[in-house]
Amino acid sequence: MALDISTTETSTPVRFLDLVTTHQEIRAELDAIWDNTVSTAGFVGGAELNSFEEEYAAFCGTSEAIGVANGTDALELILAAAGIGPGDEVIIPANTFIATAEAVASVGATCVFADVDPDTMLITGDMIRAVATPKTAAVMAVHLYGQMVDATDVGAACSDLGIAFIEDSAQAHGAKWDGARAGSVGLAAGFSFYPGKNLGAMGDGGAITTNDAQLAAKMRSLSNHGRSLNSKYEHDLLGRNSRLDSLQAAALRVKLRHIDRWNQGRRNAFDWYGANLPDSLVQLSVRPEAEAVHHLGIVRCVGQTRDEVAAKLDAAGIGWGIHYPIPCHLQAPFGGAEGSFPISERLAGEIISLPMHPHLTEDEVLRVCEVVSR
Ligand SMILES: Cc1ncc(COP(=O)(O)O)c(C=O)c1O
Repeated sequence: MALDISTTETSTPVRFLDLVTTHQEIRAELDAIWDNTVSTAGFVGGAELNSFEEEYAAFCGTSEAIGVANGTDALELILAAAGIGPGDEVIIPANTFIATAEAVASVGATCVFADVDPDTMLITGDMIRAVATPKTAAVMAVHLYGQMVDATDVGAACSDLGIAFIEDSAQAHGAKWDGARAGSVGLAAGFSFYPGKNLGAMGDGGAITTNDAQLAAKMRSLSNHGRSLNSKYEHDLLGRNSRLDSLQAAALRVKLRHIDRWNQGRRNAFDWYGANLPDSLVQLSVRPEAEAVHHLGIVRCVGQTRDEVAAKLDAAGIGWGIHYPIPCHLQAPFGGAEGSFPISERLAGEIISLPMHPHLTEDEVLRVCEVVSR
């Protein structure tokens, strides 16, 4: 239903993200978790974690899910378990959050950046082929902004090159490519449950999904001090502590029951934006094979500058962000040269993130559209 935006109230603020409403909606279920955890003192491991791992694997369509401490650890543990380290190159998109690159650097491998498609803002098979070398061991494809990469195309490039296809699914809980969910199309996938994510914990959290039982066993061990799966006191591998707390696992179990509905709320908001944004702001394009979950409300500022758009939003009390203003290869630790990845660099100057969350109403989207159309 298209509302008449000329009559829309413009003075009411619109939140960029509304975690308060999300948590109020499930408040009773969350309160019960706290009571149960305090009563049982089951803080690490146990039934809640096991059940969450089973339910999350089922949600993603994989045989295995492993709860870990955060999304960055998830990616790093995948690389470590796959035996990727010094001397290896891992291809990642220049347009991503820095954690993707940090994970590669943390295992001692070299980040090789690739440019992205200008319309989806995601890595493609051609972009991967353009930067692959004999040292390339893997591509960490990022399903950025809630839309999966073209898994058929990226999967084919990885097979041709004989490299591993790893998914950074931190922004894509529940997204699909050709019916397959994020987390199920590569060798393994890392998820973040940072509170603002589509599936967020009440603090930090993460998970790895895979269909490879052997790799899963290694990642589970690495994330728990390299502990032998059969003996509490034997440590087969040099591991670390990257466990998901039971309290977080219990909260994630509650939220998992709501995520499909919440993702639909985001898709509704995306469509309302699509019907009402001015031509000067262009949404990312969603391909027909993709079911996106719109982690962020990204638009490119093409007919007005980003500063102009931001000033209008600020004046109307509307929240906004930029994801991300500096492409990863130009961040200080990676020290790349300007001009190396022109599409990512252009996008970094054009994009702005408009309010996006499951509880955004059509009235609020229309208010944002009216303000940026002025
Ligand atoms: C694309 C991407 N990769 C990795 C991460 C890392 O996740 P975390 O913050 O849980 O370590 C994030 C989230 O912050 C992300 O957006």
